[in-house]
Amino acid sequence: MNGNEVKISIGLEGIYIAETKVCKIDGIAGKLWYRGYPIESLAADSSFEEVAYLLLYGSLPKKTELDSFAEQLKKERDISDNIKMIIKSLAQKSHPMDVLRTAVSALSSEDPELTDNSPEANLRKAVRLTAKMTTIVAAIGRMRAGKDYIKPDNSLGHAENFMYMLSGSKPNKEVAKFIDLMLVLHAEHGTNASTFSTMVTGSTLADLYAAITSGICALKGPLHGGADEAALKMMRTIGDPANTEKYIEDALAGKQKIMGFGHRVYKTYDPRAKILRSWFTDIGSKSSGEVKTLTETALRAEKMMIERLGASHGIWPNIDFFSGPLYIWAGVPAELFTPIFAAARVTGWSAHMLEYWPNNKIFRPLDHYTGQLDLKYININDRK
Ligand code: CMC
Repeated sequence: MNGNEVKISIGLEGIYIAETKVCKIDGIAGKLWYRGYPIESLAADSSFEEVAYLLLYGSLPKKTELDSFAEQLKKERDISDNIKMIIKSLAQKSHPMDVLRTAVSALSSEDPELTDNSPEANLRKAVRLTAKMTTIVAAIGRMRAGKDYIKPDNSLGHAENFMYMLSGSKPNKEVAKFIDLMLVLHAEHGTNASTFSTMVTGSTLADLYAAITSGICALKGPLHGGADEAALKMMRTIGDPANTEKYIEDALAGKQKIMGFGHRVYKTYDPRAKILRSWFTDIGSKSSGEVKTLTETALRAEKMMIERLGASHGIWPNIDFFSGPLYIWAGVPAELFTPIFAAARVTGWSAHMLEYWPNNKIFRPLDHYTGQLDLKYININDRK
């Protein structure tokens, strides 16, 4: 409390904004559930399509329901020439997250149900966005590299098709499984900054495209989704793994944050990072070249950070720490890491919006004014 008995929560820390059945995080025990299912079992046994259904519809699909949902996604995958043109005009001069937010915003002009705010129409829009955002991210990757758009292949699953549209060839099973895992792990994570941004925009009764565009904008920052690209950049800057400890020492002494560590909610190892870590050590041990170097750097950084700040400060690796070297192994360029995150998180953003809208209330917090009042207006010519 300050002098005027106003309790301010900077960054809304510790503030509950809604009841939800979408996701639960236990930041002390390091546990995460989507609609009651532990993330470990979804990561091991499920697929992105199934998780997307779970988040959007509220329960795991039966076989026929999953087949029909996967078909709907496939039907909505392709994007128009207009969206391709927008992507092409920006892909080589803007960051992919900026291109993605522009393309997603432009998608609104093509959805005949844009202004229909019924739950059924919003669900259909969420499915369209989920299908098309993945295609947009692949198209951005192609056009950024000066290559042509590749049409979706509807004989392929969601993750596999993404890699096909990005690279032009079908990924091997291990790469496809990894991309699917990343989509599952990124699909949902409570009311973080991007979900909150989505909900703030949606709470004004702006449409789902506007809300999701807000989510993408908030996800871009390096304190949130952009940390995956920033963590890889740090590992590349370190260069020789033998430089790791000195780099971290200097960064901490200079009060810099180490990207891929720390979390507002988790005060222990992020369970998603734990899942990725087992992939990371496995792939790292079989790799050579840059992936091997990055793996060694990351493991040294992890050891030092945990010794320094783990138990004492509750700063542990988060999901964005190990993903970079794995994406590089899979053939995904660094600037696409956060757009892939967005292409998965669109399901969680939409699930929260669909849950919130039936009892909608516009978000309108307060700020505590500490400036002066009743100042005398002075004509511009008389101001000193
Ligand atoms: N490296 C070094 N120190 C850190 C780090 C870090 N990664 N994270 C937090 N701290 C320190 C921070 O300097 C501060 O120290 P002091 O109290 O001495 O000033 C203290 O821990 C509290 O940090 P904070 O930034 O006030 O904590 P927060 O809860 O507001 O922020 C965070 C959480 C994720 C923004 C922060 O930990 C961070 O900036 N991490 C690096 C970026 C990152 O990896 N983000 C991805 C998060 S997980 C994926 C996602 O959801 O997007």
